[in-house]
Amino acid sequence: MLFTRTLDCLLKSRKTVTALHYSARNFAVTLSKMSEIEKKFVLPKRLEGAKRVVEYIQLALEHKPLNLGQGFPDFPPPKYVTDALSQVANGDNFMIHQYTRGFGHPRIVAALSKLYSKLLGREIKGQTEILTTLGAYEALFSTITGHVDVGDEVIIIEPFFDCYEPMVKYAGGVPRFIPLRMKSGGSKVCTSADWVLDKDELENLFNAKTKAIILNTPNNPLGKVFTEKELNQIADLCKKWNVLCISDEVYEWIVYEPNRHIRIATLPGMWERTITIGSAGKTFSVTGWKLGWAIGPENLMVNLQMIHQNSVYTGVTPIQEAVAIAFETELQRLGQDECYFVSISRELLSKRDYMAKFLQDVGMKPIIPEGRLLYDSRLVSSGSEKDKYKDYRFTKWMTKNVGLQGIPPTAFYSTPNKHLAENLVRYCFIKKDENLQGAAEILRKWKSNKN
Ligand SMILES: Cc1ncc(COP(=O)(O)O)c(C=O)c1O
Repeated sequence: MLFTRTLDCLLKSRKTVTALHYSARNFAVTLSKMSEIEKKFVLPKRLEGAKRVVEYIQLALEHKPLNLGQGFPDFPPPKYVTDALSQVANGDNFMIHQYTRGFGHPRIVAALSKLYSKLLGREIKGQTEILTTLGAYEALFSTITGHVDVGDEVIIIEPFFDCYEPMVKYAGGVPRFIPLRMKSGGSKVCTSADWVLDKDELENLFNAKTKAIILNTPNNPLGKVFTEKELNQIADLCKKWNVLCISDEVYEWIVYEPNRHIRIATLPGMWERTITIGSAGKTFSVTGWKLGWAIGPENLMVNLQMIHQNSVYTGVTPIQEAVAIAFETELQRLGQDECYFVSISRELLSKRDYMAKFLQDVGMKPIIPEGRLLYDSRLVSSGSEKDKYKDYRFTKWMTKNVGLQGIPPTAFYSTPNKHLAENLVRYCFIKKDENLQGAAEILRKWKSNKN
């Protein structure tokens, strides 16, 4: 705009030389203004350092690989769930398209309260102990922002879902990392249970400044399901140091036999210091619906409600109603074979084992997940890309040259610990059988071309 005005000024002026002087000065002023603007509006310091793997989305668009990187299903969700949404959208109750109760639409709050009263073994009061959110993401954001004060330390177990670290920093908190370490190597097939916390390392992290620990079980990306013993160790330290446990349990229903998902809020003395987070997207394979929830005692929930009320205010009414209907259906068959919470893991188990086999066939060493839907497989080559970390080089090279996309797991680690995951790649197996067969074929061809 200013530049056009400058040009206008040049063309219109009869005193060209004067005009040239004038416009050059004007242009310089504009430039220096620009840099002042640029300087002033750089990313605020507390938001620095967060990097997302968005370049992989671009890479997929450019090279059109078979994409096993993104962690969502490529097959339809259960029909009764999508039917519920169309019934809600087209039903007679047109008020369902308007704003609903801010802290949670009454029907979904009632369903969640019924379900979690059973799961947590205590009566959950819907009005005060549940907040529904825009995905588990917002539940995490409201919990962290609502509880973490400037200078508070928050313990994050690695590998971790990548938003934990920036969220803690946005709140002014200080992330303190502890990696799960592989306890055994060798030639045996390794599982996510081989990744454990070092008891002393964990104990040493807790101190008077510790405000919270973020637990993610089943863990993304490893698929580790924390055992009762491991959860008790964490719980004991939380109680000793009076620390909040933020328990991200979005994959609570994706756990493979004989493993069992244990909710840390059910351990003695933990309800009063735990916020349990869940996701309808993960529970019903509808990640695009973005409905989550946080559950905890009233005195902890008011902090989250405050953040939610002043940022989002209210969730999406028809989605909450439809998910409520889906929960009501499942509540009637809870624990039975046909219950989706039971059948989803059964269906994924054969996909998990199929992927394990074809990765082993090409010389990769899979880490068999006990829960969730992703695989980490140790690399067999690092490709020829320029990135700092080997897993980035490998996954980019594979996308461009072999046609199979995975995700680099160092994205789930803090900088000092990234070396722990450099030799891994993350592949997701919540995909149609034909796509898993396609991936097996791509890898087989790649292997035979290499030999
Ligand atoms: C561990 C973990 N927590 C939270 C989320 C966010 O869930 P939602 O899609 O419900 O926001 C995800 C999504 O991938 C996740 O993997």
